[in-house]
Amino acid sequence: MLVRVLGSAAGGGFPQWNCNCPNCDGLRRGSIRATARTQSSIAVSANGVDWLLVNASPDVLTQLRAAPALQPARAIRDSGIAAVLLMDAQIDHVTGLLMLRERSTPLPLMATPEVLSDLSDGLPLTRVLSHYCGVAPLPLALDAPQAVPGLPGVTVLALPLPSKPPPYSPFRERPRRGDNIGLLLANPQTGRRLFYAPGLGEVSDAVLATMRGCDVVLVDGTFWTEDEMIRMGLSRKAAAEMGHLPQSGAGGMIAQLDRLPSGVRKVLIHINNTNPILRDDAPERAELTAHGIEVAFDGMEIAF
Ligand code: MLT
Ligand code: MN
Ligand code: ZN
Repeated sequence: MLVRVLGSAAGGGFPQWNCNCPNCDGLRRGSIRATARTQSSIAVSANGVDWLLVNASPDVLTQLRAAPALQPARAIRDSGIAAVLLMDAQIDHVTGLLMLRERSTPLPLMATPEVLSDLSDGLPLTRVLSHYCGVAPLPLALDAPQAVPGLPGVTVLALPLPSKPPPYSPFRERPRRGDNIGLLLANPQTGRRLFYAPGLGEVSDAVLATMRGCDVVLVDGTFWTEDEMIRMGLSRKAAAEMGHLPQSGAGGMIAQLDRLPSGVRKVLIHINNTNPILRDDAPERAELTAHGIEVAFDGMEIAF
């Protein structure tokens, strides 16, 4: 099975259009060693022809142009994207759905009933799309393996993650199970497994047990420190309030990933543009390397 990282940055991308933090400014000026990144999305395939798009980022068109494998060109209008699966209803994960409106048939859309409800209410993308290609909703069950229609050789399992729905959601202050998920991708033939969770506020016993049984974990790399955005004067919110566990510090993501067996490949994704790990020569990046942790980049391919 193959995962292709289409976008490895958090919401806003890197550099972010209006941001002059040391990373964004340094990248624009060419004064730091770092690579631009688009907003978080991956594509999964067992046969290299049919793909599951996991999250539809606002950068999806740019991402598809950079990934010819997702465009098998079997007909005059065609795409390798068999279905789209959503991890949550956040803007950086869903607004690309509007860019897929030229399909000739309804877009198969796998998401929990909670995410589908936000997308027909607070941010009514599915209602808007009904005037174009429409969507074929495929409700995603929690804690149960599910096949993906049109995608041979891939099963998905959604794990509920405790976190808030997006700011626009009518349920913002009344979170529901299913607002946010982690995704276990499995190849039923080989038994190989990858856990994907671009937003992970805490590593619960259930998440740890899942990650221990995986070949690869591709998890939340948003922030290095809890107060990164606050210290730079960019936000009043700490990482925890945004549902992201920072890498550094006691109980942080590095410490959590250290609890996994040594054979598990560990990769961070959904990196915020303020995070020092984006600089190839940063000491924080060297610390990750010392712990056997990789940083995802756009175009990265992970076979498992
Ligand atoms: C998040 O994961 O916190 C989001 O990237 C926020 C956003 O897209 O606005
Ligand atoms: Mn995000
Ligand atoms: Zn920035």
